[in-house]
Amino acid sequence: MRFVDIIEKKKSGQALNKAEIDFWINGYVAQEIPDYQVAALLMAICFQGMTIDETVWLTDAMLHSGDVIDLSKINGVKVDKHSTGGVGDKTSLALTPMVAACGAKVAKMSGRGLGHTGGTLDKLESISGFQIDMEESRFIEQVNEIGLSIIGQTTQVVPADKKLYALRDVTACVNAIPLIASSIMSKKLASGADTILLDVKYGEGAFMSDVASARTLAKTMIAIGKRLGKDTRAMITNMNQPLGNAIGNALEVKEAIDTLHGKGPADFTELCLEAGSVMLIQAKLANDHASARKMLEQVIQDGSAFAKFAAMVKAQSGDVEELYHPEKLPQAPVTCELTAQESGYICDMNALSLGVAAMRLGAGRALKEDQIDPSVGIVLHKKVGDHVEKGDSLATIHHRTPLSQDFMDACLAAYTFHETACEKPQLIEEIIE
Ligand code: URA
Repeated sequence: MRFVDIIEKKKSGQALNKAEIDFWINGYVAQEIPDYQVAALLMAICFQGMTIDETVWLTDAMLHSGDVIDLSKINGVKVDKHSTGGVGDKTSLALTPMVAACGAKVAKMSGRGLGHTGGTLDKLESISGFQIDMEESRFIEQVNEIGLSIIGQTTQVVPADKKLYALRDVTACVNAIPLIASSIMSKKLASGADTILLDVKYGEGAFMSDVASARTLAKTMIAIGKRLGKDTRAMITNMNQPLGNAIGNALEVKEAIDTLHGKGPADFTELCLEAGSVMLIQAKLANDHASARKMLEQVIQDGSAFAKFAAMVKAQSGDVEELYHPEKLPQAPVTCELTAQESGYICDMNALSLGVAAMRLGAGRALKEDQIDPSVGIVLHKKVGDHVEKGDSLATIHHRTPLSQDFMDACLAAYTFHETACEKPQLIEEIIE
C-alpha cells in the first residue's frame, strides 16, 4: 500500500476502507508516514468528509494506538461525561459527586485547559495539596471505596490523537466533524467507562458555532459510540454566554461547592441536574428522568453530594478545610468592578471574549507551558436577559496585576445592550439518546 494513493483516493472524494485507515494510523504512530503526507490527507478529509464507516474505523484505529484503560475491577456501572469545552464550564466538579452520591461509579481522567477554555485538572489543583497523579491500581481502589476519582492521564492513551491534533492545529484542520468526533471518542473509549454522556456546546465560546453543526457532531459521536459498543448519549447546550457566574479556577471550585449545597446559579444547577439524570439512567440506577432528578435533588439536599466531593478531595490529599471554608481557597489580592456604561437589557454576552479576558488575568494558558494563577478570574453578576442601570456592577474582576483600560474595554465590549427586554436563552437545546 502506498500512502500517496490513499491521499489521492480521498482527494477524489472516495471512501477509504478499514485497511487503508489502519495503515495510515499505524504508520503515522510508528513514524513511517511523515507529517506532510498526513497533513495532505487531513486537508482532503476537511474538503471531502468521511462516511460514518470511515469515521468509526478511524476512531477504532486511534483508540488502539495506545493503552486502553481496564476498569473491569470496579464494581458497578462506570459512567463518564465529556464536554466539548466552554467558558465557566465547571460541570465535572459538581456533577460527578452528585451522580457518585446516587451510586454511579466515576473513574474519570480529565484534562487541562488551553486558551479560553478551562480544564478540570487546573480547577481541582486550586485546592491545596490536591493530587491528580495516581497509580492506576490506587485509582481503581479509590473508585471502589468512595465511588469517585478524577485524575490526569496515567498511561499513554491514544498517542495517535496527540500527533494528529498537533498537526491539525497548525494546518487549519481542526474544524472537521469526522476529525473532531474521532479525536474525542477515541479518548473517551480508551478511558474504559461503560457509558458516555457528551455535552456538545455551540455558540461564541465553543468549537461549534451553531446548533446544526453541534447536532451533527453529537450524532456522529453517538453513532461511533454505539458501533463500538458503548451507551453514548449527548446534550446540545448553549455556550453563547458563560456557564454559571464564575470564570477562573478557584472561583469555579467555589461555585461548584455552592451548587453542591443547592445554592449554585440556576443555569449551572439545571445543567448538572439534566446531565446527571441522563447519567443515572445510563447507569441503570433510575428508570426515568423524573425519578433520576429526584435522586439528584435529594443528594444535594441531604449533603451527600457535597460529602462525596469532600471524600474525593481528602482521598487525593487535598485540603478539605478549603471546601468547608471556601474563603480559604486561593484569593486574588485585588478586586475591581466592571460597571455598566449604559442602562438597558443585556441581550448578548460574548463568552469567548470573557474567556479570553479571564485567560489574560492568568486563569488560563495561551501556551501549554504557561503557569496559571488559581486565584484570578471574573464573577458575573448579570447575564443575558437581565436589566441593568448605568453604573451597576456587571461583574467583579479578581486580579493580581493592574488592569489596563484596554482590558476593561475588551470586557465591556463583550456585552450588547438593548432598550427592550431580551429573552433569557435556553441553555439545553436538546438531549439525544
Ligand atoms: N476536543 C478534542 O479532544 N479533539 C478535537 O478535535 C476537538 C476538541
